[in-house]
Amino acid sequence: HAPRVAVVGSVNLDLVARVERLPAPGETLTAHGVTRVPGGKGANQALAAARLGARVRLHAAVGGDPFAGEALALLRAGGVELTTLQTVDRPTGTALIQVDDAGETTIVIDAGANEALAIAADDLDADVVMTVLEVPDDAVATAMAARAYTVLNAAPARELHEDVLAGVDLLCVNTAEHDALAAHADLDALAAVAVTHGAAGAELRRHGRVVARAEPPAVDVVDGTAAGDAFTAALALALVTGTGDDAALRRACRVGALTATRVGAQPSLPTAEEVDAWPSD
Ligand code: RIB
Ligand code: NA
Repeated sequence: HAPRVAVVGSVNLDLVARVERLPAPGETLTAHGVTRVPGGKGANQALAAARLGARVRLHAAVGGDPFAGEALALLRAGGVELTTLQTVDRPTGTALIQVDDAGETTIVIDAGANEALAIAADDLDADVVMTVLEVPDDAVATAMAARAYTVLNAAPARELHEDVLAGVDLLCVNTAEHDALAAHADLDALAAVAVTHGAAGAELRRHGRVVARAEPPAVDVVDGTAAGDAFTAALALALVTGTGDDAALRRACRVGALTATRVGAQPSLPTAEEVDAWPSD
C-alpha cells in the first residue's frame, strides 16, 4: 500500500524574479519578470511525496490573507490533505527568490504564519513524518518524536537540540547545512544522513560510513528551487518502501535533477510516471 506521510512544514508564496545574474550588494537590476508561485519547503515536500504516490497530510499554518489561497492551490489540486491547516493572525509566509540564467537561486524568507505553527503529537499518525526548519523548534521536536520513520530536512540550517537529532531516522542536508550542524552535533551518531552536493550528486551515510554515492544525470538546470525538497521526499519514500540504499539515492538524485529542469517550486515537482519515463540516467 502507498505509505502514509505526515509533513510538519512551511507554506510560502514565492515571489520569483528571473534575472540574468544575481545582483551584487548595492546594485539594482531589471528582472525578466516576476511571478507568484506556491512554495515553502514543507509544502514542496508534501506535494513531491503526493506526486510520487504517497498519501500525504500537511500540518501547516497560513495567514487569513489572499496569499494563503494562492500558496495552497497546488497542494489542493494534488490531493494533499489539509484537514489540520491552521489559519493564524500573521501574514502567510513569503519567499523572495531570484533565479539567474544558470538556474542558481538566492532566497530570503519571511516565516510569518509558519512561526505560529503548533502541532499535536496525536495528529501525526503516519508511516513517515517529515519536517523542515522553517517551522518552530517545538513543531520540529514533536515531529521527530513521532512513532514513525522520521525525516528531517535541516533547511535552513540552525542549531538543534541533541534530543531532536536523536529522534531523526533520516537527515537530509546540503553541504553548507551539513557543516553548520556538524559544528555542534555528532552527525556520525545518526542512523542515516544524506548529503547533497548540487550538480556533483549526493552521498548516503549510515552511522558515519558512506554506504552509497550517486551522481545526478547531466541536465540543463533551469531553476534549482525545490530540487532539495523533491530529493528529500523521494529518498524518504524509496527507503521506507524497502528500496536499497544505492537505488534509493539514485532515484532521489533523478527526482531532484528533473525538478531543477523546470521553473518554480511546486509546478516543477515530478510525478512518479514522469520520473520513470525520464530518459536521463
Ligand atoms: O526549497 C525551496 C523553498 O524554499 C521555496 O519554495 C521557498 O518558499 C523557500 O521556503
Ligand atoms: Na525547479
